[in-house]
Amino acid sequence: MTHSAIEALLERKIGISAAAIGPENLLKVIRQRMRACQIENEQTYYVHLTTSIQEWQTLVETIVVPETWFFRNHESFSFLGKNIVSQWQSINSHAILRILSIPCSTGEEPYSIAMTLLDAGFFEHRFHVDAIDISESVLQRAKLGRYTLTSFRSKESLFFRTRYFSEIENQYQISAKIRNKVRFFQGNLRDDNFLRHNNPYDVIFCRNLLIYWDDAAKMHGLKHLERLLKPGGILFVGHAERPVFCENGFEQVRHPGVFACRKLKETVKPQSRIVQPVSGTVSPRKLPPAKRLKVTQPILVSSANSTKPNIEHPENLLTTAQKLADQGCLQEALTTCEAHLDIHMDHSQAYFLMGIIYQALGEDKQAILYFNKTVYLEPEHVEALIYLIRLFEKQRDQKQVAYLRRRLQRIRARTQ
Ligand SMILES: C[S@@+](CC[C@H](N)C(=O)[O-])C[C@H]1O[C@@H](n2cnc3c(N)ncnc32)[C@H](O)[C@@H]1O
Repeated sequence: MTHSAIEALLERKIGISAAAIGPENLLKVIRQRMRACQIENEQTYYVHLTTSIQEWQTLVETIVVPETWFFRNHESFSFLGKNIVSQWQSINSHAILRILSIPCSTGEEPYSIAMTLLDAGFFEHRFHVDAIDISESVLQRAKLGRYTLTSFRSKESLFFRTRYFSEIENQYQISAKIRNKVRFFQGNLRDDNFLRHNNPYDVIFCRNLLIYWDDAAKMHGLKHLERLLKPGGILFVGHAERPVFCENGFEQVRHPGVFACRKLKETVKPQSRIVQPVSGTVSPRKLPPAKRLKVTQPILVSSANSTKPNIEHPENLLTTAQKLADQGCLQEALTTCEAHLDIHMDHSQAYFLMGIIYQALGEDKQAILYFNKTVYLEPEHVEALIYLIRLFEKQRDQKQVAYLRRRLQRIRARTQ
């Protein structure tokens, strides 16, 4: 009874649902905190939690997932550097470009933004980045700006590492020039008063947070982000998070590998339409006829400038698959993923997308198969693990659920 009251409190106050972190994990964390506070009774702990700001923050710190790295989804940063910056500079010759990164976790995302802008030729005094997270401990690490190898997972980040970091005792210290461009604050996107008095931003990054939220919380977060973004401003999101925005007043930015939306110049009232209860990327409402395209060679697409067909570059196939899935062409999206996998046999993101699509099609067994392939190739793929937990919960396979939750917990313990 009290345990579920604490679950409900967490969901209401910070958005994270027990299903996302696993009810058993949550129970374990609560018991751990009760022992630390020398409280034996759950009801007493609930009262303590709701009256002690310090205990509340400690519990939040224990359950958040701070997984992040430099230039995560590097295409989004290239897009920011090449497209947005040049457009913005030509229109606004004196204004300051304002960017928000929420949640910023240990700082890799806002610092990647700052490095991108400096590299794109932006003068230091022409932009600034505000970075917000609910967790004090990740903010402390972000302000310190010292990182280990796990923060550099992409080859793009290695390029920037040689230029903006110095090596100190096997760690990498970000330069003062970059550090000074980012201001870190504590904040809660689930809070009704979140940045209530702030001026709107030109660009917002809000990636890999809403995936842990339920539908009501997502709509709440969406309203804050809409208010905080200028008309025409760009919102970068996580790959599975885009549909909710595109269906509620934002338009999709169509650029290969980039997960972003633009706030429409004229505000469209949100219609509270959420595609999938578990933050899926595709809508079952848009299912095409159950016809499966036979693709035995790379897909042919029309070039924008000529009537001649082009053979789409294999690296773009996954982007095409994502677009097809977003448009509701699920079978075609699957076939395109398969064509992509013919060339890139070990691409975990393609398996992940197939898992999402099969789940949207209601084919849970297949979804499990593809999420399993994802975590086989990328053992720390947190989203795939969360989807797997939910699917096994649906099948009431407690053994698998317990195993996967332990795995997720180990990842979180390591990355916290
Ligand atoms: C997975 S990280 C995402 C970091 C970065 N945006 C990225 O995509 O790499 C999620 C972060 O969300 C933060 N968080 C969780 N709930 C939050 C809330 N209600 N408001 C602000 N930050 C929150 C956590 O502390 C954690 O650092």
